[in-house]
Amino acid sequence: MCCTLNHRNYHTKLDGFSPVPQHVPKRGTLLTGKKHVAQRIPMLSGCIYETLRMKHIRLFWFASATLLYTLGVILWGAFVRATGSGAGCGSHWPLCNGEIIPRAPQVATLIEFGHRITSGLALVLVVVLFIWALRVLPRGDMGRRGTWWVLFFMITESLVGAALVLMELVGDNSSVHRAIWMAAHLVNTFFLMGALTLTCWWLAGGGRLYIRRHGLLSAGLGLGLFGLLWLGMSGAIAALGNTLYPSASLLHGLQQDFSPTAHVLIRLRIFHPLIAAVVGIYILGLAVFIDYRVLTMRSMRLVRSLVMLFGIQVLVGIVNVALLAPVWLQVTHLLLANLIWIVIMLLTAEALSQPATLPEHTRVGIFARPNRTRVRTR
Ligand code: HEM
Repeated sequence: MCCTLNHRNYHTKLDGFSPVPQHVPKRGTLLTGKKHVAQRIPMLSGCIYETLRMKHIRLFWFASATLLYTLGVILWGAFVRATGSGAGCGSHWPLCNGEIIPRAPQVATLIEFGHRITSGLALVLVVVLFIWALRVLPRGDMGRRGTWWVLFFMITESLVGAALVLMELVGDNSSVHRAIWMAAHLVNTFFLMGALTLTCWWLAGGGRLYIRRHGLLSAGLGLGLFGLLWLGMSGAIAALGNTLYPSASLLHGLQQDFSPTAHVLIRLRIFHPLIAAVVGIYILGLAVFIDYRVLTMRSMRLVRSLVMLFGIQVLVGIVNVALLAPVWLQVTHLLLANLIWIVIMLLTAEALSQPATLPEHTRVGIFARPNRTRVRTR
């Protein structure tokens, strides 16, 4: 993954230095806006993992492949919802219209059945990951513990999916009950992706998280994670409102949003962009705070990835509204929402796995004297 020419040159330059190389960017460049070689390297490069110590490289790559595959299944799930195909197999689960393999299926049935087959395979991959980790990792290993959470959230994900079908909270169902289950489904999905991300982090050699020791930082990150969950839940409700009550035009949609007689799912739509604005301001503040507090190159890249992705997501959201939420843009919007979640999980792991208090000579920014430099973690 570490294949960009610039990147390799950059690494070669760094490797020869002591942990406090002179030409590495000064802290707080997020505010000063100064561009440096590190900022021209693609932010989401595989190198986030490369500098960590990997003991079980095949297990790490299998876990990463499972994470990517599960992301694909989640996006297909949004496609099922956006095309209204959730009822494609009737209210049967796990059978499809009472059959193991539907004969003479309609398009909706194929879409829903495809989602069931692919999510079933995701469950199998997670079980393999779990058993593999139990076999090769010692008790107490964080990577091994992580696979327990991955298995737990994959099972609850399947159960929520089954409940949606068996309770017929699919198709044209416009009940508040469905909205609550859709929001719960999204929260569980984020927990599953979070557990998979942390497991990959630990399998790549990432450190334990010292939540209590990092007081303010932990609280700030916790609030950021909660804000993104809240934002995601409001998005899932907006998505449901959009699917059940598509607007004929932007003006018609906006009139509906403010109409006192419109369905509650329509009137709730407007809250999503508002929550995005509030959470966006908070995430920006959190990014600046972490940029000052956490002194690693990896945290710097992750902070910039988070801010960049959030900015792109806001733009995609606005275009989503303007174009009346076409299916391809809904799926793109959900993909970006998951990438934001993965990046903030990695940032949380990077920030909370650092020693709680850093040596005096590395404390810089608003918490110490200026003109200090960043430490490269190894
Ligand atoms: C920047 C942070 C944002 C995040 C993390 C986010 C996240 C989400 C999520 C998770 C969904 C549900 C997708 C699904 O279940 O398929 C969603 C839906 C939606 N979001 Fe956002 N959103 C953000 C910003 C915005 C903004 C700023 C707007 C509009 C101005 C917007 C407009 C929409 C619309 C119209 C939907 C429903 C249609 C769809 O599913 O795409 N979002 N959002």
